[in-house]
Amino acid sequence: MPQRAIVSLDEYLDGAGGQGISNARRSGPDAVLDEISRARLRGRGGAGFPTGTKWRTIRDAAGTDKYVVANGAEGEPGTFKDRTIMRFCPYEVVEGAAIAAHAVSAVGIFIVTKRSFTNEVARLRAAVDELTSAGLVGDVPIEIVEGPDEYLFGEETGALEVIEGNDPLPRVLRPYQHGLFATAPQLGWESHEQLPGHAGEHTANPTVVSNVETLAHATWIMALGADEFSRVGVPSSPGTMPFTLCGDVDCPGVYELPMGTPLRTLVDDFGAGVPGGRSPKMVLSGVANPVITAAELDVRMDFDAMAAIGTGLGSGGFVVYDDTTCAVAVARAFSRFLWVESCGQCPPCKLGSGTITEVLELIERGEGAASDIGRLQRTLATVTDANRCYLGAEEQRVVGSVLDRFPEDFGAHLTGSCDLRHDVLVPKIVDFDETGRFVFDHRQLQKRPDWTYDD
Ligand SMILES: Cc1cc2nc3c(=O)[nH]c(=O)nc-3n(C[C@H](O)[C@H](O)[C@H](O)COP(=O)(O)O)c2cc1C
Ligand code: SF4
Repeated sequence: MPQRAIVSLDEYLDGAGGQGISNARRSGPDAVLDEISRARLRGRGGAGFPTGTKWRTIRDAAGTDKYVVANGAEGEPGTFKDRTIMRFCPYEVVEGAAIAAHAVSAVGIFIVTKRSFTNEVARLRAAVDELTSAGLVGDVPIEIVEGPDEYLFGEETGALEVIEGNDPLPRVLRPYQHGLFATAPQLGWESHEQLPGHAGEHTANPTVVSNVETLAHATWIMALGADEFSRVGVPSSPGTMPFTLCGDVDCPGVYELPMGTPLRTLVDDFGAGVPGGRSPKMVLSGVANPVITAAELDVRMDFDAMAAIGTGLGSGGFVVYDDTTCAVAVARAFSRFLWVESCGQCPPCKLGSGTITEVLELIERGEGAASDIGRLQRTLATVTDANRCYLGAEEQRVVGSVLDRFPEDFGAHLTGSCDLRHDVLVPKIVDFDETGRFVFDHRQLQKRPDWTYDD
């Protein structure tokens, strides 16, 4: 990621921009897949899935109309790296999408981002126009789709639904099985013909959905080579990542560091630590992973090291809470966010996260009983049942881990004696202002579970 905004195509081309796609064209799709796999690039959208494997699966899948989707929806609270990339250098995202399209022989590219990201939308549109006019991205059509603010718009199948003109309601089948504009049935055996009137063969249109940061890395891997990319980072997660740091730290921001950098370095050195002489109590990596306690701050920020302590790197966005914060309030705030954002297609997810939020609110108000902890645990055990997407698992992982790691805070509420801070906001970042502070979406407090707002 460049350290400042690249403002023109000429400036981009001067810095080796355009070389990735031209190398990709010269060497051919197989060589692109080999190079991306050799670089051991792992997806930066949250799960860390190997990008070379994902692209190869789609290249090898049956079907003529394949697509590439660049995921710039960035809805994960505590994360601002994709918007930083799209603001600073949209060219590398567009070029990366063109490289992916070349690798899988796609017939169309969609770049999804949020309607409310006006700055990023303008920069992406200009970059697509400039790169296309300069003949640098080939003849695969590129469309920018502006979607809603909902968290599920970033979920890969929710994004496909939005591209097709629908609400971001996740699908059962994954994009490599049932891609964009697919006519093949989603749900196995049917006793009747799907889509009455459909003529011709059904097609599944396997689709690549890759995060915009992943695509930006692919651009530089193809320009400079896998060896250059892997010069930093750790063998299982080479390269760098722009990590977002917010919450109770002196210097919040987006810091690009090698994969495997200790979390403590990010918090203490780049974030300048917790203000006011207080100390960190917990760190959350987005809303998808188990809580990291102060004792675990030396963990390295890469996919495997984070998994080894039972959490996850997610999209590299870290939220710090200091030792004046009540863990019950954190669990309640995160649970409410996930409940509100859940779409309700899977009852255990929507109803379960609603119950968990209500019980946490009850406990926080000092009206809970010891038996409510058992109720929480039982509901957490079933919140993931028959789920279409990972959101229910996020509820289970975050709330379950806070309950597990901070039983004393729950105990204090059950006996009515907690004097810690309860004004916890899930940090859905909307901007980074000129004073160097993040701006948060306070409207989410008014958002109701049916995605309307109290005004
Ligand atoms: C609830 C939910 C929200 C998500 N939001 C985003 C998002 O905003 N941006 C993103 O790139 N991936 C998001 N993901 C992950 C995507 O589903 C998908 O795995 C990712 O875009 C794949 O890209 P990658 O292989 O480059 O990581 C989300 C997943 C879930 C379950
Ligand atoms: S798991 Fe939750 S958010 Fe995901 S599709 Fe089902 S109800 Fe919607």
